[in-house]
Amino acid sequence: MKLVSFLATFVAITSARPEYASGSIPAWHPAGPGDLRSPCPGLNIAANYGFFPHDGKNITEDIVIKGLGDAYNVDPELSKILFKSGAATNPEPNATWFSLAHLRRHNLIEHDASLTRADAYTGNNWKFNPQKYAMTRQYWTEAMVKPIHMANARIQADVNSKAFNPEYNFTSERQLQAAAEPAAPLLVLGDRKTGYTDRRFVEMFFEQEKLPYELGWRKKEDVLTMDDLTAMTNLIADKISLFSE
Ligand code: HEM
Repeated sequence: MKLVSFLATFVAITSARPEYASGSIPAWHPAGPGDLRSPCPGLNIAANYGFFPHDGKNITEDIVIKGLGDAYNVDPELSKILFKSGAATNPEPNATWFSLAHLRRHNLIEHDASLTRADAYTGNNWKFNPQKYAMTRQYWTEAMVKPIHMANARIQADVNSKAFNPEYNFTSERQLQAAAEPAAPLLVLGDRKTGYTDRRFVEMFFEQEKLPYELGWRKKEDVLTMDDLTAMTNLIADKISLFSE
């Protein structure tokens, strides 16, 4: 975007939405030199807003509980579980923290056939990859992104990696994890029960690693629990099939 049109947009947004002026919408700063980022758009976003340390380092359980609560209203009990899986990627034994770079370690949490990242075999497994994203994006065929669209994108990502990555590694447990990942943005951005989500919100989340405040999104008042995550994951996982019903 040219500077002039960027400024025009910014002025339009700030005058239309007084929250910007009052400072209640957190400031967004993408990673700068020396800042670490990960294959997880949800945590990169938390760092971009300062809900997590902006440099992506020294992320403790307390930081995950507060950061995911402030960013997305994640239940502390769910945050504790997620923190444990993050800390397990730190090679130090019994680590009490992790960095966003630890999450890049292949075949721990990070896996092949991601929706927006390339496979480790082909190079960078953690940075947003426009080609991979374009393959996913083509399945968001309506103004609302639905669980079926995420399921179709997952099938495509699996087939693509299976066909072209000679080191392709994917298991049934991975399949469930890989359904839980796109469940998360639908839960935080869209309808908690159906998962239907404004496509522009989902695009901003993945493409810019930014929350769609300027499009009218606000953090949900209801806490996001493990039950919510399980239900949305199942909605997606049940549709990861090539059968018509
Ligand atoms: C401590 C909490 C979390 C940890 C440790 C974590 C870790 C990860 C990791 C390592 C990946 C890469 C998997 C891959 O190879 O594709 C990933 C993917 C993903 N995460 Fe997270 N995550 C956390 C929380 C969240 C939250 C809160 C959200 C959403 C609000 C989120 C959304 C996603 C999405 C959408 C992907 C899939 C990206 C893709 O397929 O390209 N995550 N996460």
